Amino acid sequence: MRLYHVAIGLVSLLSTVSGAMTIGANWGTQATHPLDPSIVVRLLRENGIQKVKLFDADYDTLKALGKSGIEVMVGIPNDMLATLASSMKAAEKWVSKNVSAHVTSNNVNIRYVAVGNEPFLQTYNGSFLRTTFPALQNVQSALIKAGLGNSVKVTVPLNADVYESSSGLPSDGDFRADIHDLMLAIVKFLNDATAPFTVNIYPFISLYSDADFPVDYAFFDGNANPVNDGGTSYYNMFDANYDTLVHALQKNGFGNLPIIVGEIGWPTDGDRNANIEYAQRFNQGFMSHISSGKGTPLKPNADINAYLFSLIDEDAKSVDPGNFERHWGVFTFDGMPKYAFNLGTTNTGALIPARRVNYLERKWCVMKPSAKLDDPQVPLSVSYACGLADCTRLGYGTSCASLDSRGNISYAFNSYFQIQNQLDDACKFPNLSTITKTDPSTGTCKFEVMIEPYYGGAVQAPGHAKKALGLVVGLILFFLKIV
Ligand SMILES: *[C@@H]1O[C@H](CO)[C@@H](O)[C@H](O)[C@H]1NC(C)=O
Ligand SMILES: *[C@@H]1O[C@H](CO)[C@@H](O)[C@H](O)[C@H]1NC(C)=O
Ligand SMILES: *[C@@H]1O[C@H](CO)[C@@H](O)[C@H](O)[C@H]1NC(C)=O
Ligand SMILES: *[C@@H]1O[C@H](CO)[C@@H](O)[C@H](O)[C@H]1NC(C)=O
Repeated sequence: MRLYHVAIGLVSLLSTVSGAMTIGANWGTQATHPLDPSIVVRLLRENGIQKVKLFDADYDTLKALGKSGIEVMVGIPNDMLATLASSMKAAEKWVSKNVSAHVTSNNVNIRYVAVGNEPFLQTYNGSFLRTTFPALQNVQSALIKAGLGNSVKVTVPLNADVYESSSGLPSDGDFRADIHDLMLAIVKFLNDATAPFTVNIYPFISLYSDADFPVDYAFFDGNANPVNDGGTSYYNMFDANYDTLVHALQKNGFGNLPIIVGEIGWPTDGDRNANIEYAQRFNQGFMSHISSGKGTPLKPNADINAYLFSLIDEDAKSVDPGNFERHWGVFTFDGMPKYAFNLGTTNTGALIPARRVNYLERKWCVMKPSAKLDDPQVPLSVSYACGLADCTRLGYGTSCASLDSRGNISYAFNSYFQIQNQLDDACKFPNLSTITKTDPSTGTCKFEVMIEPYYGGAVQAPGHAKKALGLVVGLILFFLKIV
């Protein structure tokens, strides 16, 4: 155990000194209560995270990143691909408003534009097959026209299912048969533009979707039975997956195309394999793996350029992929570290929490002690609350799995109450609920207190508006009194 820590310390010292390896993070904002972007930028800086990947080009987010020096990958959502594919003008406008303006007037260090997000996922039924490549071409032309062709590179973050291996061995890697020609065209285009290939790699999903997946192979401890690929041994799924891509690129004549790992990480809740212990084991293992500078068997000594998925939990993400989807953050929704994680970038080796986060009052909405479990209003109330709030911490293998039925109901009520900013009306489940000042959290199950909503730089917060209104009313009353 102690040796392990010394090794991690050494690795972090080396990487800090050489400065070769820097880790990035994905900053998504599909949350009911996203943090103020300036708080997040400070969180990034204090934790030495020098690269950030966004999923859109939100003005306040980019503005907050101005002058931070942090390298930024801005994103174009899939629903904009059709417009950008069919109109060069639209692409020019997008670049002008969402790249040029920020680079020149806000001093944002934009380095990449991510065109689409996993557009070729099989669950999209081919919806973006015809628009992704033309959008990529138009955005690239617009960047050149704006004089940004050298400093800002285009890329398409792709899911790892754009390549496959018939045998399962990396050396048989090639692009997926149904999109082979399209992938080749995109790869050639990226190569000509000296732009990188971006891929998202998820050992967690392999474990989640395949009960027979060997658990140790998802991690980096070297405990798994190695996979033998013609004399090359693979001890973890990440290396095997990365090298499957390298083989696919080599086979098609583009073996030197730079690769960015656009997303990699492990969720902490919402599934039996999504927990703090596994997330820490995976993320710390990954950091040590890439800090070692060993690369992968097929790309020895390669610098692995990666963005953790993700920075902060997002409680408004769709749970279609699974309940774990809202729990990918290294930090909780309010910017608190979930577990010990040494990025090799801070003096202490510990994550630094967000500062100046404002919380709502310490109060919770729970089931009334007098309410009966068999009250016919219970099922309706719970499904209403969970439909609009977040109940993904309930159920088998989750952090709140040990709650009893009353605890479950209270959890649902409280989640709704907090997401509704603790409005009194949000704790009026008929004869069932009550507000308490006693924290109902138990063990690993945390009943949240929400943070104050962020209204954006341009809009005045209602708190202020109310105060202003109060002042006006006060003044009127004052005048009425004196006349
Ligand atoms: C800039 O990006 C934002 C956020 O993704 C988007 O809503 C907006 O339409 C874009 N602007 C233009 C001119 O395309
Ligand atoms: C894809 O097709 C399936 C089956 O036809 C359908 O249920 C699903 O909604 C479609 N998904 C999208 C994103 O269009
Ligand atoms: C609590 O809720 C979860 C999710 O709905 C359910 O799986 C579990 O069985 C419930 N537990 C009890 C004791 O009711
Ligand atoms: C609440 O409880 C009271 C008294 O037991 C009862 O009269 C009333 O109908 C209940 N209301 C609802 C909505 O169940």
